[in-house]
Amino acid sequence: MSKVEITPDEVFRLASMHAIRNEYEIAISLLRQLHEFMPDDIRVMRALGIVLFNSGAAEAALPFLHKVAERQCTLDNVLGLVRVLRDLRRLPDIDHVCSVAWPHIGDVPVFLGEWGYANFQMSRLDQALEILGKALKVDPHFKPALHNSAASLILLGRGEEAVSMFSRLGRPWVAANAVPRDFAGEYAELSRVYDDNSLHHYFSKRLVRLLQGALAERVPNAVLELGCGSGLLSQTLPWPLGRLVGIDISPDMLAKAEKRGGYSHLRCGDLVDVMAGLEESFDTVVSGGVLCYLADLRGVFGNVARLLLPGGVFAFSVDPLGDDMEIAEMEAGEFAHSRRYLRTLAAECGLTELRIDIDVHRGPPGFWCAFAKPA
Ligand SMILES: C[S@@+](CC[C@H](N)C(=O)[O-])C[C@H]1O[C@@H](n2cnc3c(N)ncnc32)[C@H](O)[C@@H]1O
Repeated sequence: MSKVEITPDEVFRLASMHAIRNEYEIAISLLRQLHEFMPDDIRVMRALGIVLFNSGAAEAALPFLHKVAERQCTLDNVLGLVRVLRDLRRLPDIDHVCSVAWPHIGDVPVFLGEWGYANFQMSRLDQALEILGKALKVDPHFKPALHNSAASLILLGRGEEAVSMFSRLGRPWVAANAVPRDFAGEYAELSRVYDDNSLHHYFSKRLVRLLQGALAERVPNAVLELGCGSGLLSQTLPWPLGRLVGIDISPDMLAKAEKRGGYSHLRCGDLVDVMAGLEESFDTVVSGGVLCYLADLRGVFGNVARLLLPGGVFAFSVDPLGDDMEIAEMEAGEFAHSRRYLRTLAAECGLTELRIDIDVHRGPPGFWCAFAKPA
């Protein structure tokens, strides 16, 4: 019988086919044999690194991807290595790899964005800003750099600069172009893990701090929460309440809030529609991390002003915008609002401003606002 010869290219193709079908063990075994046969072949080292990483063996993938990036310092090779280092949470190593790669690909925004983000994650905020600034010089609209620069600036306490930076992400909102988002559907999934994210606990903690500053010595008694989600606020409010009513569009989030207890009533539906049907009055209306999902807030302000008792307070957060716009779309179905717009709405329905603080919102900055209905 004659011996069948199989070329390295054919073995590589076979390995790729198994990798595509997620048959990692066979793919890895074939690639390891090829690597032994051709130890200097970059294509084989890269494939071995990628397949090992995709199979869950990030640590084993590292030496191969390191060598590949060292030998060919291209954007793809560096990003491939960074992806694995990020998975292993080796942020200082990302910084090192990027500083070595910088002379080769230092003018590519995606690369600078990754490097800046690693510095942001390590709380090296000045370095992050410097690197992200380089990305923005090349592409002033590069979204990850704008987003992470805004997040760095707010953590450095540079609030107004953070708002200006964040505003650059927005396009003026045009009602006719609106793409509706299915929040009930989105939060069906998210409700299962919502409470595991520390940012989600931050909303209610920051809201309580805002209330404590805005209420002075007054103690809230009848509170309405717009977009109560899983009900985290009910366990964060430090005052014993007479009544706490929650509204949310997601039945799954409301089921969590119900289980948590603490609410007198929970209502399911769009918060403006539900408010429009309410007759009871409240001394406090609150909303943390929610109004960024609504573009036009006129209906919110109108209903809140109607439901508030004289002397009552409306405390909420929004994504922020510079005063050269009123409402901007930041992502599909996510909006930022300017102070000029909020003040106009408040004045139109007779609410007076207590404070508008700039602070961390959903990572980047937000406006934490309190308005009062005159007594
Ligand atoms: C980021 S979560 C914030 C939840 C809660 N305020 C907290 O501090 O954890 C946003 C919530 O807003 C709700 N939501 C979004 N749009 C809404 C709308 N138009 N009416 C009522 N709830 C809405 C979502 O279902 C979700 O529960």
